[in-house]
Amino acid sequence: MPRNAPLHNASICVSSQIGNDSVYGAVTPPLYLSSTYKFKALDGMGKYDYGRGGNPNRDALAITVADMEGGKGAVVTSSGMAAIDLVLNLLPPNALVIAPHDCYGGTHRLLKSRQSQGRIRVLFINQNSERALERALDEKPALVFIETPSNPLMRVYDIQALSSAAHKVGALVVCDNTFLSPARQHPLKLGADIVVHSSTKYINGHSDVVGGIVVAKDEAMAEQLAWWANCTGVTGAPFDSFLTLRGLRTLHARMDAQETNAQKIAEFLHDHDFVSKVYYPGLKSDAGYDLAQKQQSGPGAMLSFELSCDRDGVGRFLAHTSLFQFAESLGGTESLICHPASMTHRAMSAEARKLAGISETLIRLSVGLEHSNDQLAELSHYFQNLSKQ
Ligand SMILES: Cc1ncc(COP(=O)(O)O)c(C=O)c1O
Repeated sequence: MPRNAPLHNASICVSSQIGNDSVYGAVTPPLYLSSTYKFKALDGMGKYDYGRGGNPNRDALAITVADMEGGKGAVVTSSGMAAIDLVLNLLPPNALVIAPHDCYGGTHRLLKSRQSQGRIRVLFINQNSERALERALDEKPALVFIETPSNPLMRVYDIQALSSAAHKVGALVVCDNTFLSPARQHPLKLGADIVVHSSTKYINGHSDVVGGIVVAKDEAMAEQLAWWANCTGVTGAPFDSFLTLRGLRTLHARMDAQETNAQKIAEFLHDHDFVSKVYYPGLKSDAGYDLAQKQQSGPGAMLSFELSCDRDGVGRFLAHTSLFQFAESLGGTESLICHPASMTHRAMSAEARKLAGISETLIRLSVGLEHSNDQLAELSHYFQNLSKQ
């Protein structure tokens, strides 16, 4: 019987591009490493000609993520930063970009560096401040960049409200959906025009590929992005795309389990004497809780917290990490612990970090798939180390 109900997101994730191999009937998409493809005749180019412009594995991943995000097309890039930089090609010279003052440090650095080259102008603002937003929109930006929940403070920004305000002044809306993935949030459905991902994180999910994806809500925009990706050569590698699609298959199961663990950890930290603040939109006490309930289908598995100690105490807390790897990045199956001020956000000036609220005692966790009892025991151990003077 033909199925007429649309597939659930989890089903698209698992079944997209499965069983499509017309040569051998391979169930999972085969890997095509070839950098070049034969022409059938003069003017007889097949679907692919050269690997920079097109590749079956990249396409399989792009189609799957575009479907999951509800977009009309996607471009797979070599990193999340390449994905964000790719989008800037859509802007005229000297266009104004409004960005959150508390975005990922690499995004902050990229936008500032493109500004210092004279390519764009950028205004970093607190996007939850109505006044700051109003004033910024008066400047007629060409692009409003949103990152929600933000890295590392897990601030939740209203995609629908920001998109509608940005569209009123003719700005393009780009949303970084790295922290939640299409398993938990659909920015295009809330009004954004473009979604960007560091697929290095939840989409690949195994900390073994660096990659990025740009998803466009309409075909014309997707084509423009694909043109620029080929022109500038920022497309992702076939093997990386193959691995990323392989990793993506388990996204929903991973996110469900990691989020359950994160909620337990957030509650544990919330009650801890050495913690002055927990940032996790799954806690009722969190400033973003209500909005997260509205625009996310879960709080995700990232959280951060303020230790009640000085910088030496932070050093003791992080001195003997084991189950939580003391490392940057996020979204893998293993738990990671990091100190944003000296790691992921060190490219920002101390002043910019202060403005964003990223302190020297802030710790960020990417909660993995280990048993939650082990995770909690491990964190308790770090607190014991902190209390040893
Ligand atoms: C929210 C966010 N966007 C973009 C990036 C950049 O991605 P990549 O490291 O794949 O270049 C990161 C990296 O941590 C990130 O956290």
